[in-house]
Amino acid sequence: MGSRADRPYAVHMNSKPGQSGTGDAAGSVRVDLAERSYDVLVGPALLSRVGGLARSRCRAGAARAFIVIDDNIPAAMVERAAAALEGAGFRTSRAAVRASESGKSLETVQKLLVSFAATRHERWDPVIALGGGIVGDVTGFAAGIYRRGVPFIQCPTTLLSMVDASVGGKTGANLEVDGALKKNLVGVFHQPIGVLADLDTLGSLPDRELRAGLAECVKHAMISADFGDPGLWRWTLDHAEALLARDPARLTELVVRNVGVKARVVAGDEREETEGGGRALLNLGHTFGHAIEPMAHLSPDGDPRHAPLLHGEAVALGLVAACATAESIGSSPPGLRGEVESLLARLGLPTRVAGLPADEVTLTAIAHDKKVMSGRLRLVLPRGIGRAEVVAAPPEAAVRTGLSAIRRA
Ligand SMILES: NC(=O)c1ccc[n+]([C@@H]2O[C@H](COP(=O)([O-])OP(=O)(O)OC[C@H]3O[C@@H](n4cnc5c(N)ncnc54)[C@H](O)[C@@H]3O)[C@@H](O)[C@H]2O)c1
Repeated sequence: MGSRADRPYAVHMNSKPGQSGTGDAAGSVRVDLAERSYDVLVGPALLSRVGGLARSRCRAGAARAFIVIDDNIPAAMVERAAAALEGAGFRTSRAAVRASESGKSLETVQKLLVSFAATRHERWDPVIALGGGIVGDVTGFAAGIYRRGVPFIQCPTTLLSMVDASVGGKTGANLEVDGALKKNLVGVFHQPIGVLADLDTLGSLPDRELRAGLAECVKHAMISADFGDPGLWRWTLDHAEALLARDPARLTELVVRNVGVKARVVAGDEREETEGGGRALLNLGHTFGHAIEPMAHLSPDGDPRHAPLLHGEAVALGLVAACATAESIGSSPPGLRGEVESLLARLGLPTRVAGLPADEVTLTAIAHDKKVMSGRLRLVLPRGIGRAEVVAAPPEAAVRTGLSAIRRA
């Protein structure tokens, strides 16, 4: 682990409003990346802070702000952000994006770039992403390449984007190759200048989307011991039902602690360059998950009306497959897979899926994953509670065991 990752990282939970430099945010996490450092604020009513954040982090003279909006979020949320930006002296423009994996495309990025140019958006003017991970990823990508990079603020409105996608500067789009959608095949690293995780925005988020976000939280808990929060696994087990019931205090702590894990991982390995660990560990469950996510007929409960799988649901299945693979090669303690499956089930997430194609089909999809290096598969596998490792070239039989573990007959 890099030296930065060994330093204590700044995570604050405010018991009293106004207690820290975060004003009245319930919590904050510093993402420590030298001159690209920024804060993630967590709490209610934070959208009204976006103007002040943009004003304080953008160069004097920045005059315009462009808001990219998820077309599913309530209009009141958009107005709150726009009013805050206008109150801070920005002229605002907006564009809505449909949040779908097929729409997470270069075509959408191109449309955004043209819209920025049409409003004469300048080099120091901020772009604001107001939506889930899809809007955050395409907006960040467009902001990262427009005029070789303009300031970018993340205002995540899904649990998944609050705890994961909005933090760390990975942006991108999917690419269709030979008729198949390849996830996140193009993109740039472009860190935001700030993240506002306004918990009020979760009020309109469907329960299924909330559960999908909880899958990434389980993933974080499964690596948290190596990234400064060894108690996160136990805490998540203890509060599963309260989280599903959207208990505000528990949700706040969940977001702050999960962002803390992600921030620490990113601070230690911003560009995923650490051999055998670092940021690559965040891909726990994702190699299997990415392989099955584009299989449009799969659904979390076998009901075709609920197809396709959401990203978080595919990750939940991927976590189970990773546990079974690790168990098969003897690298994780017995019982871990059962504990993970039971937590995922309590959180209403799938642990088996009906309609999985023949292993050869999924193995081919896995072989095309970005994490394959020089033709050798590299899988992130758990090695105990709160710990994971990168395993190079795992035996094919073990990977097949992973697939069998999630196959529902
Ligand atoms: N950049 C990263 O580091 C990173 C990390 C994890 C995931 N991702 C990406 O994030 C994407 C998944 O993100 P997601 O789970 O947020 O999905 P999403 O962006 O598709 O949003 C989920 C759904 O919720 C809707 N929505 C968003 N906010 C809402 C709100 N407040 N109220 C009502 N509806 C709302 C959206 O319109 C969409 O239908 C994937 O494309 C994944 O690859 C990126």
